[in-house]
Amino acid sequence: MQTNKIVVAYSGGLDTSVMVKWLSKKYNAEIITVTGNLGQKKEIVNIEEKALSTGASKAYVVNLQKEFIEDYAWKALKGGALYEGEYPLATAIGRPLLAKLMVEIAQKEGANMVAHGCTGKGNDQVRFEVGMKTLDPNLQILAPLRDWEFKSREEEIMYAKENNIPISVNLEKPYSIDENIWGIATECGVLEDTKVAPPEDAYQITTNPKNAPQESEIIKLTFNKGIPIKLDGVEMPGAQLVSTLNDLGGKHGIGRLDIIENRVVGIKSREVYEAPGAQLLFAALKQLEKLTLDKDTFRYKQNVSNTYANLIYDGFWFTPLFEALTAFFDKVQERVSGEITLELYKGTIKVLSRESENSLYSQELATYTEEDAFNHKDAEGFINITSLPHQVITRYTVNKTGWVKSKVGESVKK
Ligand code: ARG
Repeated sequence: MQTNKIVVAYSGGLDTSVMVKWLSKKYNAEIITVTGNLGQKKEIVNIEEKALSTGASKAYVVNLQKEFIEDYAWKALKGGALYEGEYPLATAIGRPLLAKLMVEIAQKEGANMVAHGCTGKGNDQVRFEVGMKTLDPNLQILAPLRDWEFKSREEEIMYAKENNIPISVNLEKPYSIDENIWGIATECGVLEDTKVAPPEDAYQITTNPKNAPQESEIIKLTFNKGIPIKLDGVEMPGAQLVSTLNDLGGKHGIGRLDIIENRVVGIKSREVYEAPGAQLLFAALKQLEKLTLDKDTFRYKQNVSNTYANLIYDGFWFTPLFEALTAFFDKVQERVSGEITLELYKGTIKVLSRESENSLYSQELATYTEEDAFNHKDAEGFINITSLPHQVITRYTVNKTGWVKSKVGESVKK
């Protein structure tokens, strides 16, 4: 009699296909697979059929694209979340959403275990498990890739053949790829050598900037409180907007990254990313923030964005600090509405125009013409006071000259 019911995060690839059979045998369990559709194009075809023919009793395929963009990507965007200053966290923001889906289905199905196909040296095991443990500490989590007997893909393929598991693997496939609408991450193969530039086939949705069109393209993005709502004046749902921008940006060679990053587990890894839509949105929103936020808020936000990115990267999505910082960014973004016009050309993004009814830019204050409304005399007192602590250090500790009384309007000297 079966006593265990395991909900398995299923991508349809070799690892998770083998996992379904392996888990059902090892734990004498009924297997329910769960696949979240985050806009990954390649892997989602016929996935339900595949899961059932591998031995699952039930296969969920859930379209999460709207929720992924509106509840996850928009938070990352509003929070300026770029890990180590660059990576737009596409894989990282997908994991908490998938963890939530797994927990919901496990609870609904009365499953006592959940399983994922992440390895023991990556970030995703941490994100999945921290997310699932936070949402339901009672579920037992299994990570077969950390402790099963297979030492290579070849051994997994042999097991698949022996157990009639349908697989479609190409042993030549040179990379490990994770894909969703917010971006694509590619690692392994030749990319493991940091001295080697990524070959062209490491990129799937972006044109090499050298081969991008000779003609530039101009786009206008409209934001409402930090959320992009229109492209060229046309209102669009979030997921559609991002995928349209992926196509546009990708065509112009925008959104490629080749970086070394610090993983949660301490390993440095080399990763190639493509996220044209995200890159365009981050660039545009930053311009709008520069126009509409006061200096202190803008500067403070930069620091908090770094913390926010680290929290997301490290898997702490469902935590009090994450929630509190999200509220901070929501508050800050209340002013950030308006339009940004960008020119896309051979991998570059140029800002052509910024407009907002909340703009804090004052031409009368900024101008060097006779329209100038700024009181230049105010600067002297400001500078005296802002430099005062440092003047004191010099007078009393370095030169030991001390202070003398001065008349109003006269500079202080001895
Ligand atoms: N390094 C990135 C992250 O931790 C992406 C990992 C995605 N996985 C892959 N097989 N490329 O978020």
